[in-house]
Amino acid sequence: MVNIYQNKEKLKWIIVGIAFLLGIFSIIYTQILVQQLAETERKQIDLFAKAYEFIILSENDEEFNFVLTEIVFAENSIPIILADSLGPFDHRNIIMPELSPEKETEFLKKEILKMAEEYQPIEIDLNDAKKQYIYYSNSPAIGQIKYFNYVQITVMSILSILAYFVFSSARRAEQNRVWVGLAKETAHQLGTPISSLMAWIEFFKTDPNFDQSIIPEMTKDIKRLEMITSRFSSIGSEPSLKDENLLEAVENIIGYLQKRVSTKVKFIITPKFDHELYAKLNVPLFEWIIENICKNAVDAMGGAGKIEIYLKNSKDGRFVILDINDTGKGIPKSKLKTVFQPGFTTKKRGWGLGLTLVKRIVENYHNGKIFVLKSEIDVGTTFRILIPK
Ligand SMILES: Nc1ncnc2c1ncn2[C@@H]1O[C@H](COP(=O)(O)OP(=O)(O)OP(=O)(O)O)[C@@H](O)[C@H]1O
Ligand SMILES: [Mg+2]
Repeated sequence: MVNIYQNKEKLKWIIVGIAFLLGIFSIIYTQILVQQLAETERKQIDLFAKAYEFIILSENDEEFNFVLTEIVFAENSIPIILADSLGPFDHRNIIMPELSPEKETEFLKKEILKMAEEYQPIEIDLNDAKKQYIYYSNSPAIGQIKYFNYVQITVMSILSILAYFVFSSARRAEQNRVWVGLAKETAHQLGTPISSLMAWIEFFKTDPNFDQSIIPEMTKDIKRLEMITSRFSSIGSEPSLKDENLLEAVENIIGYLQKRVSTKVKFIITPKFDHELYAKLNVPLFEWIIENICKNAVDAMGGAGKIEIYLKNSKDGRFVILDINDTGKGIPKSKLKTVFQPGFTTKKRGWGLGLTLVKRIVENYHNGKIFVLKSEIDVGTTFRILIPK
């Protein structure tokens, strides 16, 4: 039983791991791509610088302008600012806001500072010992690729989260149908033999040759079968919730359980309120909750110990609180939530269904909550149940 559950858990982590590695790979790959592109752009700008130097020294204005616009700056989107000792005097591929000429120079000076942080400007020596500088930065394409990488990762994560929820809610709906269908069918099938057994008992009561001392025992067993049937049929249909006296309901089921477990197990019910406490309950299902939790407690204590049940109002008065405390072996911190998963068991003959059923009955049928309030290894465990009033 443990294996099925743990394998599923392992598979989940393997898939998460693979997705994570793919994400990392995508980031690294994009970075390499960006580096290569930046490298290419730097080579281009070097080439431009050389061409620029060449034409600026050729002292033919017409040729200069032609070569500058048609060859040097053509067909590329690398932002460039040309400057000399007086400041910027020309620029290409810079997105300029609409500004007055002085403000424009201010703006370009700021851009120059930003560009210089990224790449050293290229120096060009002019004949008369003056210098010009070509400032440049990465083209917008590189920024877009970097940005695209994050967009891609975000979209992929959103998609996988979405897929996970769609998948798990579909699976939950499927599980619901199986539970309900199974419960309904079981109740239905048990109905006929039980009524037939009751008829047999009536018959035996009138039979003088039949040992009459057996009759009360048989009646008890049939009552038990009837109880099981009513639980299953409650699960299989929308259960009716009624205002029930909580203490009475708890005392009833504990009285029943006490007779069926070792005398070394002591049950103590502690109601922490003065007036009667009512909660919206379906009694057959509620008894199933208490029975399952107490059976687990008895198992955890190895058949000897103390089970205490505290009943009280929640602070806001909307819920009644049931704390069921045992003196058993405790639940490890890492398993506090797992114990409610179907198939999780640490017992040789366990199905790992008890607490799953309990959680379903509390949450789906009573609109309540259940969780492990506290647990300490070899000291004991407290389960807390909240049920709306
Ligand atoms: N009071 C408790 N103290 C310690 N461990 C507990 C307690 N209650 C539950 N557990 C742990 O949670 C597991 C799951 O409990 P659950 O009732 O769902 O299944 P089970 O008792 O193993 O099998 P079954 O389907 O027969 O109830 C148990 O196997 C046990 O390890
Ligand atoms: Mg159990």
